[in-house]
Amino acid sequence: MHKDIKYELMSKEEIAAAVSRLAAQINKDFANEPVLALVILKGSMFFAADLIRELTMPVTLDFMKVSSYGSSSSSSGKVQLQLDTMLDLTGQNVLIIEDIIDSGNTLYKLKTLLCERNAKCVKLCTLLDKPDRRETPITADYTGKLIPNEFVVGYGLDFAERYRNLPYIGVLDEKVYS
Ligand code: PRP
Repeated sequence: MHKDIKYELMSKEEIAAAVSRLAAQINKDFANEPVLALVILKGSMFFAADLIRELTMPVTLDFMKVSSYGSSSSSSGKVQLQLDTMLDLTGQNVLIIEDIIDSGNTLYKLKTLLCERNAKCVKLCTLLDKPDRRETPITADYTGKLIPNEFVVGYGLDFAERYRNLPYIGVLDEKVYS
């Protein structure tokens, strides 16, 4: 265990089981219809890489990077598109792949924006969800795990760009950020 991690919240094995469960649900729901997987950088990169490899329908892949935080640490409620997809979403089954939903502000704005591009459907898959922190009502279509309001890092999630490479998800010790 990394010295800055207070405790492990999701082990490698638990992550792998959640990924397989989510992929099976998505495979069943889309019944071999093509899907455009939109990976939201950077946090979801490992989750998306693992999940997409278990999808069995024809998959198109692209990346977006959004931020609702700007330079401050609290959500501004305004989504900044730092990297957009150039693909035409008209008539597509879009699957947004995220690492975590917290306030819900980012995903609510992003989903609204993508729906305006005439997709056939826009579904949201998140590995983690912190429902206690919600400010904007949004519910994922596919959720790996509901978690308490703790600062989590690893498997793509960061604090100040660190800890993304941990193979598990852990709760960061307060001494690191207080
Ligand atoms: C995280 C996460 C979501 C957003 C969720 O991204 O990937 O996009 O925050 O927060 P919200 O529900 O309060 O809007 P972050 O801005 O940390 O970027 P990163 O994935 O590049 O680390």
